[in-house]
Amino acid sequence: MTSAATESRRGQGTSTHLRARRADAPVDPPTRPRVVVEELSALFGKTRAVKDVSMELLDKRVTAIIGPSGCGKSTFLRSLNRMHETISGASVTGKVLLDGHDIYAPEMNPASVRKHVGMVFQRPTPFPTMSIRDNVAAGLRVGRLDPSRSSIDEIVEKALRRAALWDEVKHRLNTSAVGMSGGQQQRLCIARALATEPKVLLLDEPTASLDPISTQSVEELVWELRADIAVVIVTHNMQQAARVSDFTAFFLHGDMVEFSPTAEIFTNPRDPRTESYITVRFG
Ligand SMILES: Nc1ncnc2c1ncn2[C@@H]1O[C@H](COP(=O)(O)OP(=O)(O)OP(=O)(O)O)[C@@H](O)[C@H]1O
Ligand SMILES: [Mg+2]
Repeated sequence: MTSAATESRRGQGTSTHLRARRADAPVDPPTRPRVVVEELSALFGKTRAVKDVSMELLDKRVTAIIGPSGCGKSTFLRSLNRMHETISGASVTGKVLLDGHDIYAPEMNPASVRKHVGMVFQRPTPFPTMSIRDNVAAGLRVGRLDPSRSSIDEIVEKALRRAALWDEVKHRLNTSAVGMSGGQQQRLCIARALATEPKVLLLDEPTASLDPISTQSVEELVWELRADIAVVIVTHNMQQAARVSDFTAFFLHGDMVEFSPTAEIFTNPRDPRTESYITVRFG
């Protein structure tokens, strides 16, 4: 069910700027699983917020996670880069393999895992006392001894360009990030996550607090990132999931009810619970 063989055909579904572009695009070459999740449960104390989830996240593909509030989407995401365990009393069982390596193995350094599996939150979280440049560079010292100033400058520029923010901030890199708009701050956080060249990027409702123009630019960015890495996006917006993702997982009460190619899940869901959620949400 989760293998490349079941990948969605492109260009199906709603007609939008992204869909329109995808409709003419050639069929993607096959790809490989970047992350393999095996029977993952995430707990707060004894309460399981995510229950026995198994799935594959493919390289160069976008996976959307949908489901009602409290169903475990953020908790699942946070279990994929060892953020979950930073909460007191929180724990996980099961496996998360990144390129075949168990990120929960004893020898794994959580900070190094987070460098490879970047995360962006619903609300932009720039470091308020840092400049724009330092915000982007904040994650670079993990695992590196001492990157030179010129190499940091290069990395910062590249990340800001990829996040479609460079032209707006290149003249004020040393000013505070606090003076930026919400959309700019969110793209700054995406640039910060991209600066460490992650293999996987986790986006938790990245456009929830953004206006339509900023939302569109983040969606375009997601689609561009797809050329290089695996992207996971949590969203309450079904149209957004349909526009940007190749696969969609539907969560309910901590269970993953369905995981299918996006075009299939929105046109022909297998589980009646998926259908009723999607119907209400699209309506
Ligand atoms: N720090 C915490 N301590 C205890 N329980 C928590 C904590 N954070 C979340 N939970 C519980 O875990 C469950 C899943 O929460 P989670 O934040 O993953 O849901 P979600 O699907 O992301 O919801 P939303 O769409 O509102 O963001 C909920 O029942 C929530 O109350
Ligand atoms: Mg959440």
